[in-house]
Amino acid sequence: MTEKEELLSLRQSLHQHNYNYYVLNAPTIGDQEFDMQMHRLQELESKYPELFDANSPTQRVGSDLSNEFQTVVHKRPMLSLSNTYNQQEVSEFYHRVEEGLKGDAFQICCEMKFDGLSISLHYEKGRLVRAVTRGDGTQGDDVTENVRTIRSIPLVLPEGLDYPDEFEIRGEVLMPFDVFEKLNKERESKGEQLFANPRNAASGTLKSKDPRVCAERKLDAYLYYLLGDGIPGESHYDNLQCAKRWGFKISDEMRLANGLDEIFEYINHWDTERHHLPFATDGIVLKVNSLSQQRSLGLTAKSPRWAIAYKFQAEQVSTILREVTFQVGRTGVVTPVANMDPVLLAGTIVKRATLHNADVLASLDLHIGDHVLVEKGGEIIPKIVGVDEQYISDDRGEKVEFVSLCPECGTPLVRNEEEAATYCPNDECRPQLLGRIEHFISRKAMNIDSLGPETVDKFFSDGLIHDASDLYELTFDKLCPPPLDLFGNPIPYNDKKEHLLEKNILAGIEESKNVPFERVLFAMGIRFVGEIAAKALARNFKSIDALKSATLEQMLEVNGIGMVIAQSVINWFAEDRNLQFVEKLRRNGVQLALTETELSAQSETFAGMSIVISGVFQHHSRDEYKAIIEQHSGKNVGSISAKTSFVLAGSNMGPAKLEKANKLGVRIVSEDEFLSMLK
Ligand code: IVH
Repeated sequence: MTEKEELLSLRQSLHQHNYNYYVLNAPTIGDQEFDMQMHRLQELESKYPELFDANSPTQRVGSDLSNEFQTVVHKRPMLSLSNTYNQQEVSEFYHRVEEGLKGDAFQICCEMKFDGLSISLHYEKGRLVRAVTRGDGTQGDDVTENVRTIRSIPLVLPEGLDYPDEFEIRGEVLMPFDVFEKLNKERESKGEQLFANPRNAASGTLKSKDPRVCAERKLDAYLYYLLGDGIPGESHYDNLQCAKRWGFKISDEMRLANGLDEIFEYINHWDTERHHLPFATDGIVLKVNSLSQQRSLGLTAKSPRWAIAYKFQAEQVSTILREVTFQVGRTGVVTPVANMDPVLLAGTIVKRATLHNADVLASLDLHIGDHVLVEKGGEIIPKIVGVDEQYISDDRGEKVEFVSLCPECGTPLVRNEEEAATYCPNDECRPQLLGRIEHFISRKAMNIDSLGPETVDKFFSDGLIHDASDLYELTFDKLCPPPLDLFGNPIPYNDKKEHLLEKNILAGIEESKNVPFERVLFAMGIRFVGEIAAKALARNFKSIDALKSATLEQMLEVNGIGMVIAQSVINWFAEDRNLQFVEKLRRNGVQLALTETELSAQSETFAGMSIVISGVFQHHSRDEYKAIIEQHSGKNVGSISAKTSFVLAGSNMGPAKLEKANKLGVRIVSEDEFLSMLK
């Protein structure tokens, strides 16, 4: 087999293993073998860039090309379903269908109503060519790059099956509960805003501008509607069975019902059973099965007459409110939390519920001892929807009011007009101090991954650290004070294997002294100074000292730095404790300036230029080219416009990009030409 043949056969094999794992849930090879094949494929693809394929299994990790979604008009409008909320309305639907079909026998396909966001996938000759969100039903966003990272969506279908040359398949993109919970935990530990439910998380992820974010977050997708000329089946159910054979993930929960009784049986079963599914559902969808019957029933302007959604009632229970506590988050925001008598709700025991903010709390008019109604709707976190009126008496307990002082540090709380959140303005308040240390060690900052939030918490409580700069003054003896002998003399450790954890932590901290200045600046947690601003400031001012003495005007001259950031930097350096923080970092050898190598690598060659990178390269990776452009004072942008200075084009530049560049008269620069510009 030649290497090119090997490349093609690896692609096929990896598509198959991917399907076994993500669709069938039945892998036939181990992770290691899978990774080995993937590495070999990557190696071969970089050797033969002319064989580039956007649908290769290697493309699932997401490229670093930032997305700017194009709006696409749907080939066939994406209608919605009309909703019903009780069995009466379901039988009315059934009888309307009966009447419409003038006595013809019919079957109803019953399916789960997935609570995610709908997606339309287009395949041509067995290859995924486009993925579009529902949008307003007439047009949506082209999210193909992100969808390619969803492992259960096939990129290339096996050859020789009975799919038509062109077809569309629609379904729902979901974030499974376990992925959602993990994501929210991570966000919580970073002090980031939590997603309210898996649907919001899935939608935020699918619309992320960075496909790598989407790749990381492990979305899933179920397909439920096959469309196009020449699709094989005569019925909806048969078509989905075909789609299943072609490699799509189709729900196993789908059933054909004969008559209303069977429909109600299905609805009643899943009303409770759905809580055992690994993803969120909010109802049942009923569809007339035969396609010819669907056609004869037709559509209304908004929804088909042949289908309907039955929405589950959010489960509600009544329990007693015992106490409301106020939690201070890592960013200082104070959230009221209700503590209640434990009660079983939608399969889990609930005893706490968020009350969100001061407005929500006020509108509920809660008193301690009230019977409250708790609901778990689409939201995973249970919420109190009101007081159970039937129990309200004249001698209610004490009214619950929002606190006016911070429960952690006693500082009077503040609330800005137009903002829902109330927060503690004391940035020396414990959760905020911890939040800043956690930000400092996080992956995109100093990347001290031997430390986690729990360890930080413990070190803080033990008085070992007060801010992140104290990490650099930790020693083995401070972390593991040696035991004392009878006379009070320390017994030295002799076993090297002992205290590996602590040694590992210290090694991680030591290692972080090599983190480049721009990330140190980001790690400092200056308000509004995100990764990009930190990079721009570091590259322009080159050292913390130059930045410290920069004037507002000088900062505003930097590309990407506006008034809010500049003022925030100035305020930060005006505080004595921040200056001490910087000095402690300096004393301990943290990078507070660009290194000689970074400095000598810099030039003004591309100053003022906006450069688009497109295609596959031989000498450097796309990431490296991005870094090179920035190093030479240029700006890497995602899409071509009249303002683009030139396109750095490798092989296989997309035809749409090429056409756009030509139309706008934007110069195309080859890889070699680009590199020679730097000489
Ligand atoms: S069929 C013309 N089937 O519900 C019929 N939709 O309001 C088109 N949904 O936007 C939809 N599960 O996002 C269908 N099994 C299912 C579904 C489903 C969830 C969503 C879909 C659509 C909305 C309808």
